[in-house]
Amino acid sequence: MNLYILGIESSCDDTSAAVLCNNQILSNVIAGQAVHAQYGGVVPELASRAHQQNIIPVVDTALKQAKISFDQLSAVAYTRGPGLLGSLLVGNAFSKAFTYALKLPLIEVDHLEGHILSHFIFNEKNIYPTFPFLCLLVSGGHTQIMLVKDFFTFEIIGKTIDDAAGEAFDKSAKILGFPYPGGPMIDKLAQTGNSNAYTFNQANMSGYNYSFSGLKTSFLYFLRDKLKENPNFITENVTDLAASMQKAICDTLMKKLIKAAKDFNINEIAIAGGVSANSGLQTILKKTAIEKKWNIYIPPFQLTTDNAAMIAIAGYYKYMKKDFANLNSIPYTKSKY
Ligand code: KG4
Ligand code: ZN
Repeated sequence: MNLYILGIESSCDDTSAAVLCNNQILSNVIAGQAVHAQYGGVVPELASRAHQQNIIPVVDTALKQAKISFDQLSAVAYTRGPGLLGSLLVGNAFSKAFTYALKLPLIEVDHLEGHILSHFIFNEKNIYPTFPFLCLLVSGGHTQIMLVKDFFTFEIIGKTIDDAAGEAFDKSAKILGFPYPGGPMIDKLAQTGNSNAYTFNQANMSGYNYSFSGLKTSFLYFLRDKLKENPNFITENVTDLAASMQKAICDTLMKKLIKAAKDFNINEIAIAGGVSANSGLQTILKKTAIEKKWNIYIPPFQLTTDNAAMIAIAGYYKYMKKDFANLNSIPYTKSKY
Protein backbone atom coordinates (compact mmCIF):
# COMPACT_ATOMS: atom_id res chain seq x y z
CA MET A 1 0.00 0.00 0.00
CA ASN A 2 1.34 3.43 -0.89
CA LEU A 3 1.54 6.08 1.83
CA TYR A 4 0.88 9.68 0.85
CA ILE A 5 2.27 12.08 3.45
CA LEU A 6 1.66 15.83 3.35
CA GLY A 7 4.61 17.63 5.00
CA ILE A 8 4.29 21.13 6.46
CA GLU A 9 7.32 23.28 7.37
CA SER A 10 7.02 26.75 8.92
CA SER A 11 9.75 26.93 11.56
CA CYS A 12 11.49 30.10 10.37
CA ASP A 13 10.99 32.20 7.22
CA ASP A 14 10.02 29.62 4.58
CA THR A 15 6.48 28.34 4.23
CA SER A 16 6.66 24.93 2.62
CA ALA A 17 4.33 22.04 1.81
CA ALA A 18 5.30 18.78 0.15
CA VAL A 19 3.63 15.53 -0.81
CA LEU A 20 5.58 12.29 -0.74
CA CYS A 21 4.44 8.92 -2.05
CA ASN A 22 6.40 6.63 0.29
CA ASN A 23 9.97 7.99 -0.05
CA GLN A 24 9.42 9.78 -3.39
CA ILE A 25 8.74 13.49 -3.80
CA LEU A 26 5.57 14.30 -5.75
CA SER A 27 5.76 18.00 -4.91
CA ASN A 28 7.84 20.30 -2.71
CA VAL A 29 6.60 23.90 -2.76
CA ILE A 30 8.51 26.63 -0.90
CA ALA A 31 7.38 30.23 -0.45
CA GLY A 32 10.28 32.37 0.78
CA GLN A 33 9.81 35.70 2.56
CA ALA A 34 11.68 38.55 0.86
CA VAL A 35 10.35 40.99 3.49
CA HIS A 36 13.26 40.20 5.86
CA ALA A 37 16.10 41.15 3.48
CA GLN A 38 15.87 44.87 4.30
CA TYR A 39 16.16 44.19 8.07
CA GLY A 40 19.34 42.11 7.92
CA GLY A 41 17.69 39.09 9.57
CA VAL A 42 14.36 37.37 10.15
CA VAL A 43 11.78 39.56 11.95
CA PRO A 44 9.64 37.03 13.91
CA GLU A 45 6.36 38.96 13.77
CA LEU A 46 6.66 39.53 10.02
CA ALA A 47 7.56 35.87 9.49
CA SER A 48 4.46 34.72 11.36
CA ARG A 49 2.20 37.02 9.34
CA ALA A 50 3.72 35.88 6.04
CA HIS A 51 3.22 32.21 7.03
CA GLN A 52 -0.46 32.94 7.68
CA GLN A 53 -0.80 34.43 4.21
CA ASN A 54 1.19 31.67 2.50
CA ILE A 55 0.15 28.44 4.17
CA ILE A 56 -3.12 27.73 2.35
CA PRO A 57 -1.95 28.66 -1.17
CA VAL A 58 1.28 26.68 -0.63
CA VAL A 59 -0.58 23.54 0.50
CA ASP A 60 -3.08 23.95 -2.33
CA THR A 61 -0.25 24.19 -4.89
CA ALA A 62 1.59 21.20 -3.37
CA LEU A 63 -1.52 19.00 -3.63
CA LYS A 64 -2.24 20.17 -7.19
CA GLN A 65 1.35 19.60 -8.34
CA ALA A 66 1.29 16.13 -6.77
CA LYS A 67 -2.11 15.45 -8.39
CA ILE A 68 -3.35 14.23 -5.02
CA SER A 69 -6.75 14.96 -3.49
CA PHE A 70 -7.49 15.30 0.24
CA ASP A 71 -9.02 11.82 0.49
CA GLN A 72 -5.87 10.13 -0.86
CA LEU A 73 -3.66 11.48 1.94
CA SER A 74 -2.48 9.03 4.62
CA ALA A 75 -1.30 11.61 7.19
CA VAL A 76 0.04 15.12 7.77
CA ALA A 77 3.52 15.59 9.24
CA TYR A 78 4.42 19.04 10.53
CA THR A 79 7.46 20.73 12.10
CA ARG A 80 6.79 20.91 15.82
CA GLY A 81 10.09 22.63 16.64
CA PRO A 82 12.61 24.08 17.13
CA GLY A 83 12.04 27.51 15.59
CA LEU A 84 10.24 30.80 16.05
CA LEU A 85 7.08 30.38 18.10
CA GLY A 86 4.86 32.58 15.93
CA SER A 87 6.05 30.76 12.81
CA LEU A 88 5.70 27.28 14.28
CA LEU A 89 2.19 28.05 15.53
CA VAL A 90 0.97 28.63 11.97
CA GLY A 91 2.05 25.16 10.82
CA ASN A 92 0.79 23.65 14.08
CA ALA A 93 -2.67 25.24 13.89
CA PHE A 94 -3.03 24.49 10.19
CA SER A 95 -1.99 20.84 10.55
CA LYS A 96 -4.25 20.23 13.55
CA ALA A 97 -7.27 21.80 11.86
CA PHE A 98 -6.59 20.01 8.58
CA THR A 99 -6.17 16.56 10.14
CA TYR A 100 -9.15 17.07 12.47
CA ALA A 101 -11.43 18.04 9.58
CA LEU A 102 -10.24 15.17 7.37
CA LYS A 103 -9.87 12.58 10.16
CA LEU A 104 -6.22 11.99 9.29
CA PRO A 105 -3.33 11.04 11.59
CA LEU A 106 -1.14 13.96 12.74
CA ILE A 107 2.63 13.44 13.00
CA GLU A 108 5.10 15.68 14.86
CA VAL A 109 8.54 16.12 13.33
CA ASP A 110 11.65 17.72 14.80
CA HIS A 111 13.11 20.16 12.26
CA LEU A 112 16.69 18.97 12.77
CA GLU A 113 15.72 15.31 12.42
CA GLY A 114 13.97 16.34 9.20
CA HIS A 115 17.17 17.87 7.80
CA ILE A 116 19.07 14.66 8.60
CA LEU A 117 16.38 12.28 7.28
CA SER A 118 16.28 14.20 3.98
CA HIS A 119 19.07 11.79 3.02
CA PHE A 120 16.47 8.99 2.83
CA ILE A 121 14.36 10.68 0.16
CA PHE A 122 14.52 8.66 -3.05
CA ASN A 123 17.50 9.48 -5.29
CA GLU A 124 18.38 8.27 -8.78
CA LYS A 125 21.43 6.32 -7.58
CA ASN A 126 19.32 4.68 -4.86
CA ILE A 127 22.18 5.17 -2.39
CA TYR A 128 21.45 6.11 1.22
CA PRO A 129 23.58 6.38 4.37
CA THR A 130 23.92 3.22 6.41
CA PHE A 131 23.60 3.35 10.20
CA PRO A 132 25.42 4.44 12.24
CA PHE A 133 26.51 7.57 10.40
CA LEU A 134 27.70 11.05 11.34
CA CYS A 135 25.80 14.08 10.11
CA LEU A 136 27.22 17.58 10.17
CA LEU A 137 24.08 19.67 10.47
CA VAL A 138 24.81 23.25 9.46
CA SER A 139 22.06 25.81 9.10
CA GLY A 140 21.16 29.36 10.02
CA GLY A 141 20.09 28.34 13.51
CA HIS A 142 22.12 25.21 14.23
CA THR A 143 25.57 23.72 13.92
CA GLN A 144 26.17 20.28 15.32
CA ILE A 145 27.62 16.88 14.70
CA MET A 146 25.03 14.16 15.19
CA LEU A 147 25.61 10.46 15.57
CA VAL A 148 22.64 8.88 13.79
CA LYS A 149 22.07 5.36 15.07
CA ASP A 150 18.78 4.66 13.30
CA PHE A 151 15.78 6.59 11.97
CA PHE A 152 14.74 7.58 15.48
CA THR A 153 17.94 7.64 17.54
CA PHE A 154 20.07 10.76 17.23
CA GLU A 155 22.89 11.56 19.60
CA ILE A 156 24.51 14.95 19.64
CA ILE A 157 28.25 14.73 20.00
CA GLY A 158 29.21 18.37 19.42
CA LYS A 159 27.60 21.72 18.78
CA THR A 160 28.22 25.44 18.59
CA ILE A 161 28.32 27.31 21.85
CA ASP A 162 27.35 30.61 20.20
CA ASP A 163 26.68 31.43 16.52
CA ALA A 164 25.65 28.82 13.97
CA ALA A 165 27.74 28.41 10.79
CA GLY A 166 24.93 29.97 8.74
CA GLU A 167 24.94 32.97 11.07
CA ALA A 168 28.69 33.30 10.58
CA PHE A 169 28.09 33.44 6.81
CA ASP A 170 25.14 35.82 7.15
CA LYS A 171 26.87 38.18 9.59
CA SER A 172 30.04 38.32 7.46
CA ALA A 173 27.89 39.11 4.43
CA LYS A 174 26.14 41.84 6.40
CA ILE A 175 29.50 43.37 7.36
CA LEU A 176 30.40 43.35 3.64
CA GLY A 177 27.11 45.16 2.93
CA PHE A 178 24.97 42.32 1.53
CA PRO A 179 21.33 41.62 2.44
CA TYR A 180 20.10 38.66 4.51
CA PRO A 181 20.63 35.75 3.99
CA GLY A 182 24.15 36.42 2.76
CA GLY A 183 25.50 32.85 2.74
CA PRO A 184 24.75 32.21 -0.95
CA MET A 185 26.36 35.58 -1.89
CA ILE A 186 29.57 34.75 0.00
CA ASP A 187 29.61 31.39 -1.78
CA LYS A 188 29.22 33.04 -5.19
CA LEU A 189 31.90 35.69 -4.59
CA ALA A 190 34.30 33.15 -3.05
CA GLN A 191 34.41 31.21 -6.30
CA THR A 192 36.58 33.88 -7.94
CA GLY A 193 38.53 34.90 -4.82
CA ASN A 194 41.79 33.80 -3.21
CA SER A 195 40.93 31.86 -0.05
CA ASN A 196 44.47 32.30 1.31
CA ALA A 197 44.48 36.09 0.98
CA TYR A 198 43.57 36.74 4.64
CA THR A 199 43.44 34.72 7.84
CA PHE A 200 41.00 35.28 10.68
CA ASN A 201 41.02 33.95 14.25
CA GLN A 202 39.49 30.48 14.42
CA ALA A 203 38.38 29.27 17.86
CA ASN A 204 39.92 26.09 19.18
CA MET A 205 37.13 24.50 21.17
CA SER A 206 37.34 21.36 23.25
CA GLY A 207 35.92 18.05 22.00
CA TYR A 208 33.63 18.37 19.03
CA ASN A 209 32.19 21.77 19.87
CA TYR A 210 32.23 24.88 17.73
CA SER A 211 32.36 28.63 18.30
CA PHE A 212 31.97 31.21 15.54
CA SER A 213 31.50 34.49 17.39
CA GLY A 214 35.27 35.15 17.69
CA LEU A 215 35.73 34.60 13.97
CA LYS A 216 33.03 37.14 13.18
CA THR A 217 34.60 39.70 15.56
CA SER A 218 38.03 39.10 14.05
CA PHE A 219 36.54 39.76 10.57
CA LEU A 220 34.81 42.92 11.82
CA TYR A 221 37.93 44.39 13.48
CA PHE A 222 40.16 43.47 10.53
CA LEU A 223 37.85 45.38 8.18
CA ARG A 224 37.47 48.32 10.57
CA ASP A 225 41.26 48.81 10.54
CA LYS A 226 41.62 48.29 6.79
CA LEU A 227 38.78 50.72 6.02
CA LYS A 228 40.58 53.42 8.02
CA GLU A 229 43.55 53.09 5.64
CA ASN A 230 41.46 52.67 2.50
CA PRO A 231 37.69 53.41 2.40
CA ASN A 232 37.40 51.27 -0.77
CA PHE A 233 39.05 48.22 0.82
CA ILE A 234 35.88 46.08 0.75
CA THR A 235 34.93 46.89 -2.84
CA GLU A 236 38.48 46.33 -4.07
CA ASN A 237 38.92 43.01 -2.26
CA VAL A 238 35.43 41.59 -1.90
CA THR A 239 36.06 38.24 -3.62
CA ASP A 240 39.22 37.53 -1.58
CA LEU A 241 37.43 38.54 1.62
CA ALA A 242 34.51 36.20 0.86
CA ALA A 243 36.82 33.33 -0.11
CA SER A 244 39.00 33.74 2.99
CA MET A 245 36.02 33.92 5.33
CA GLN A 246 34.37 30.92 3.69
CA LYS A 247 37.61 28.94 4.05
CA ALA A 248 37.84 29.85 7.75
CA ILE A 249 34.27 28.66 8.41
CA CYS A 250 34.63 25.46 6.36
CA ASP A 251 38.03 24.55 7.85
CA THR A 252 36.58 24.96 11.34
CA LEU A 253 33.63 22.74 10.45
CA MET A 254 35.79 20.05 8.88
CA LYS A 255 38.37 19.90 11.70
CA LYS A 256 35.83 18.61 14.23
CA LEU A 257 34.09 16.38 11.72
CA ILE A 258 37.40 14.67 10.90
CA LYS A 259 38.13 14.25 14.62
CA ALA A 260 34.66 12.78 15.27
CA ALA A 261 34.91 10.34 12.33
CA LYS A 262 38.27 9.13 13.59
CA ASP A 263 37.31 8.84 17.26
CA PHE A 264 33.99 7.09 16.53
CA ASN A 265 35.55 5.02 13.76
CA ILE A 266 32.78 5.91 11.32
CA ASN A 267 33.28 6.46 7.60
CA GLU A 268 29.63 7.14 6.65
CA ILE A 269 29.50 10.95 6.67
CA ALA A 270 26.56 13.19 5.72
CA ILE A 271 26.03 16.93 5.69
CA ALA A 272 22.66 18.67 5.92
CA GLY A 273 21.06 22.09 6.41
CA GLY A 274 21.31 25.33 4.44
CA VAL A 275 25.10 25.64 4.70
CA SER A 276 25.51 22.17 3.16
CA ALA A 277 24.71 23.94 -0.14
CA ASN A 278 28.02 25.79 0.16
CA SER A 279 30.33 24.88 -2.72
CA GLY A 280 33.48 25.41 -0.62
CA LEU A 281 32.24 23.01 2.06
CA GLN A 282 31.24 20.43 -0.56
CA THR A 283 34.65 20.65 -2.24
CA ILE A 284 36.62 20.17 0.97
CA LEU A 285 34.28 17.35 2.05
CA LYS A 286 34.83 15.53 -1.26
CA LYS A 287 38.61 15.98 -0.99
CA THR A 288 38.64 14.72 2.60
CA ALA A 289 36.44 11.75 1.61
CA ILE A 290 39.09 10.59 -0.87
CA GLU A 291 41.88 10.96 1.70
CA LYS A 292 39.98 9.31 4.55
CA LYS A 293 38.03 6.74 2.49
CA TRP A 294 34.68 8.12 3.64
CA ASN A 295 31.34 7.46 1.97
CA ILE A 296 29.79 10.91 1.82
CA TYR A 297 26.20 12.07 1.43
CA ILE A 298 25.37 15.59 0.22
CA PRO A 299 21.70 16.53 -0.20
CA PRO A 300 20.51 17.73 -3.62
CA PHE A 301 20.46 21.55 -3.67
CA GLN A 302 16.66 21.90 -3.23
CA LEU A 303 16.81 19.78 -0.04
CA THR A 304 19.62 21.69 1.65
CA THR A 305 17.64 24.71 2.87
CA ASP A 306 14.33 24.48 4.71
CA ASN A 307 11.69 22.45 2.88
CA ALA A 308 8.68 20.31 3.70
CA ALA A 309 9.84 17.19 1.81
CA MET A 310 12.33 16.53 4.64
CA ILE A 311 9.47 16.83 7.15
CA ALA A 312 7.34 14.45 5.09
CA ILE A 313 10.09 11.78 4.88
CA ALA A 314 10.53 11.91 8.66
CA GLY A 315 6.73 11.63 8.90
CA TYR A 316 6.80 8.59 6.61
CA TYR A 317 9.11 6.69 8.98
CA LYS A 318 7.08 7.78 12.00
CA TYR A 319 3.87 6.64 10.26
CA MET A 320 5.31 3.16 9.87
CA LYS A 321 5.98 3.14 13.62
CA LYS A 322 2.44 4.45 14.21
CA ASP A 323 3.96 7.35 16.11
CA PHE A 324 0.99 9.73 15.94
CA ALA A 325 0.16 12.92 17.84
CA ASN A 326 -3.19 14.39 18.82
CA LEU A 327 -4.81 17.80 19.12
CA ASN A 328 -2.80 18.53 22.28
CA SER A 329 0.31 18.86 20.11
CA ILE A 330 2.07 22.17 20.81
CA PRO A 331 5.27 23.61 19.30
CA TYR A 332 8.62 23.88 21.09
CA THR A 333 11.07 26.65 20.28
CA LYS A 334 14.33 25.34 21.80
CA SER A 335 16.21 22.44 20.25
CA LYS A 336 16.22 19.19 22.18
CA TYR A 337 19.70 18.55 20.72
O1 KG4 B 1 18.55 25.15 6.84
P1 KG4 B 1 18.22 26.58 6.56
O2 KG4 B 1 17.41 26.89 5.33
O3 KG4 B 1 17.44 27.25 7.73
C1 KG4 B 1 17.63 26.97 9.07
O4 KG4 B 1 17.15 25.92 9.54
O5 KG4 B 1 18.34 27.81 9.69
O6 KG4 B 1 19.62 27.38 6.51
C2 KG4 B 1 19.68 28.73 6.18
C3 KG4 B 1 21.14 29.17 6.27
C4 KG4 B 1 21.32 30.68 6.12
O7 KG4 B 1 22.19 31.12 7.14
C5 KG4 B 1 21.98 30.82 4.74
O8 KG4 B 1 22.82 31.94 4.59
C6 KG4 B 1 22.76 29.53 4.67
O9 KG4 B 1 21.91 28.56 5.22
N1 KG4 B 1 23.11 29.17 3.29
C7 KG4 B 1 24.38 29.16 2.82
C8 KG4 B 1 24.30 28.80 1.47
N2 KG4 B 1 22.98 28.60 1.15
C9 KG4 B 1 22.27 28.82 2.29
N3 KG4 B 1 25.54 29.42 3.44
C10 KG4 B 1 26.67 29.32 2.70
N4 KG4 B 1 26.67 28.99 1.40
C11 KG4 B 1 25.53 28.72 0.74
N5 KG4 B 1 25.56 28.37 -0.56
ZN1 ZN C 1 16.57 24.29 8.76
